[in-house]
Amino acid sequence: MSQDAFRLISPNGTESALPVHKGTTGPDVIDIGKLYREQGVFTYDPGFVATGSCSSDITFIDGEEGVLMYRGYPVEQLAEHSNFIEVCYLLLYGELPTKDELEKFDHSVRTHTMLNEGMLNFFKGFRYDAHPMAQLSAVVGSMSAYYHDTTDIHDPQHRDIFAHRIVAKLPTIAAAAYKLNVGQPFIYPRNDLNYSENLLHMLFAVPAEPYEIDPIAAEALDLLFILHADHEQNCSTSTVRMAASSGANPYSAIAAGISALWGPAHGGANEAVLKMLEEIGDVSQIPKYVEKAKDRDDPFRLMGFGHRVYKNFDPRAKIIRKMAHKVLERLGQRDDTPLFDLALELEQVALKDPFFIERNLYPNVDFYSGVIYRALGIPTSMFTVMFSIGRCVGWTAHWTEMISDPSGKISRPRQLYTGPANRDYVAVKDR
Ligand code: SDX
Repeated sequence: MSQDAFRLISPNGTESALPVHKGTTGPDVIDIGKLYREQGVFTYDPGFVATGSCSSDITFIDGEEGVLMYRGYPVEQLAEHSNFIEVCYLLLYGELPTKDELEKFDHSVRTHTMLNEGMLNFFKGFRYDAHPMAQLSAVVGSMSAYYHDTTDIHDPQHRDIFAHRIVAKLPTIAAAAYKLNVGQPFIYPRNDLNYSENLLHMLFAVPAEPYEIDPIAAEALDLLFILHADHEQNCSTSTVRMAASSGANPYSAIAAGISALWGPAHGGANEAVLKMLEEIGDVSQIPKYVEKAKDRDDPFRLMGFGHRVYKNFDPRAKIIRKMAHKVLERLGQRDDTPLFDLALELEQVALKDPFFIERNLYPNVDFYSGVIYRALGIPTSMFTVMFSIGRCVGWTAHWTEMISDPSGKISRPRQLYTGPANRDYVAVKDR
């Protein structure tokens, strides 16, 4: 990184020259590492709106231009020409694989999809209606109790085995959580199926009859996984980095990322979008709900709208909207098509409303993904689980990047203290 400097002069005249680092593209960053030592102050940025937590070679987002690149490749091109297992390789290793590298990686993932049989007992301990995100984070966290052979995080081979295992096993765990919820038997993975076909098989096959995989459904899932695969330092990825920065077991760090993604302001938004559309119910109710979303005193927000970074269209939303049309055309007029029509109309109304225009509130990745999942027969409670399956490779790529950095250190932010000033203890008899 090349360097210039920002000059900072404190109210008492103390001057600091704060180095500026330039990346490949995007905003420069000001290195404030010596600020406290020289000026005795911290920076203050709740929610890290304008704070760079690290340098990374993995993903670039330009919020103003609506750009998303994985290792320099525009997501639109990867969505058009690639597939999820190839994108996994790209995110993990930094380059598109040769034919031979791709075949080896695909074979490794396909042959790591089974769970240790003992792990299946965990599912018997959950209530039948346990939210699948709760099951997912619990069972992924439990993987740290199984894989003691690869927990030397400083051993590149151990890191690689962890990466293949977690990417391969997450769909199996996700499908097992779903089968618990629907009271059906767990379906073992099949190595002859690709990543998305295998997930559909484990979700919807039953022992009582053959299950035929719809190629459009597999294509739609593969595209959704590509589009959800990584997104720079979002809340859940930053959580994985934070947890892993202490040297914690990588499975525990991924479990922390799953928990962070569950929130409705983050990955839980896709589930919240469908609940919102069902609450709106009919296009005639759209104006009422748009007004609610604009009312500062009303906590209601248009779920699936807005983004911390994208102040233009989320490029993923555009691609997902096209795929939603394709899936619904393929599956024909269905009882949930009106939900998609409602989503289209809501988008049109909101995008013409000055409140949304002034605040750059556009549909984000979560606005249409739920419509596709619903059309594929995936229940709302599983939507964020699907997001987790796509994002797991991004979390793992960031984990690997951070753990491989010899200069890495534990993440430990500071604060602005606003509590009581120093005071003496008072015995209870005197209070
Ligand atoms: C994801 O970070 C990532 O990259 C995340 C993600 C990823 O791939 O990892 O892209 C995935 O999490 C997408 C976002 C999914 N969340 C939602 O769809 C939930 C609804 N959206 C909002 O909660 C909100 O837009 C956020 C949380 C996404 C972003 O919030 P910010 O950047 O903190 O913006 P803000 O809350 O400061 O809002 C700015 C203004 C406020 O109004 P004013 O105070 O200026 O009057 O816009 C308003 C907000 O009230 N606003 C909305 C709104 N989102 C923001 N008003 C109505 N509906 C909304 N959805």
